[in-house]
Amino acid sequence: MKRFQQTVAVVTGAGSGIGRATAERLAYEGGKVILVGRTRAKLEETALGINRNSRIPMAEVFAADVTDPEDVRELAVYVTQNYGDLHVLVNNAGGSSHSRILNMSEKEWNYVQDVNLKSVFLVSQALGKIMAEGAKREQRDRAIVNVASLSGHQAGAEIPHYSAAKAAVINFTRSLALELSAYQIRVNSVSPGFVETPLTEQGLQNEKFVRAIQRNTAMKRIGTPKEIANVIVFAASHEATYMTGTDLLVDGGWLIK
Ligand SMILES: NC(=O)c1ccc[n+]([C@@H]2O[C@H](COP(=O)([O-])OP(=O)(O)OC[C@H]3O[C@@H](n4cnc5c(N)ncnc54)[C@H](OP(=O)(O)O)[C@@H]3O)[C@@H](O)[C@H]2O)c1
Repeated sequence: MKRFQQTVAVVTGAGSGIGRATAERLAYEGGKVILVGRTRAKLEETALGINRNSRIPMAEVFAADVTDPEDVRELAVYVTQNYGDLHVLVNNAGGSSHSRILNMSEKEWNYVQDVNLKSVFLVSQALGKIMAEGAKREQRDRAIVNVASLSGHQAGAEIPHYSAAKAAVINFTRSLALELSAYQIRVNSVSPGFVETPLTEQGLQNEKFVRAIQRNTAMKRIGTPKEIANVIVFAASHEATYMTGTDLLVDGGWLIK
């Protein structure tokens, strides 16, 4: 039996990069996946890729800004009305700018906190309620996976706002795990190192930067979205039923170096 058969999953930031790879993997393994992001066209591209490989549509699109409480409320209504339950939530949407603390505007700080941290709170609260209600009706493994970052484990000279937000995601994950354990909902985070996605595209055009990453990474290379998706999907699966409140660092051995 496929690992995610009879599973309803929501993946935020599913229109590209790690979110797209995660949605593809969940669907490939039998899950019904609701793809969330702001840009409908990108989500439709993900859905097309998934649905053309399956007999019945396994992916559908819900365009929403996960920093907007009203959009998140509408997403919760959509999930309740169409599925009545939710088994897997992947809080993957995120982003950053490059800025140093002494020159950073409050607007820039707030944007990065909102997209990386507040979004995890809003979506986990709204969809966590659906998962908790479902747990009262049906006992089964349910999981939330928050995508944090290697940056949440170390200082970030050029991305201090992002490092702060991702460190908070790692600790928020622990508190959420404690609270939702009452419903047998597991909550973990995955912290990717350097991965080739639209988020890092510009930086990775700089050969000096790429060489520095390779030099400082034990595995001597940059990661792929699939390598992160594999770990997210493991944390969401019934193979990880005794794992909650932890962070899985997937950085090719950057921090040990
Ligand atoms: N790539 C890396 O090296 C790396 C390393 C560590 C951690 N991460 C984390 O991994 C996650 C995925 O990033 P990625 O590298 O795959 O980059 P990406 O391709 O840029 O993916 C981020 C996705 O989030 C969506 N998004 C952004 N703001 C949103 C909002 N307000 N509401 C809904 N969706 C939103 C974007 O789509 P729209 O703009 O269309 O909404 C986009 O599809 C992020 O949390 C990132 O911080 C990445």
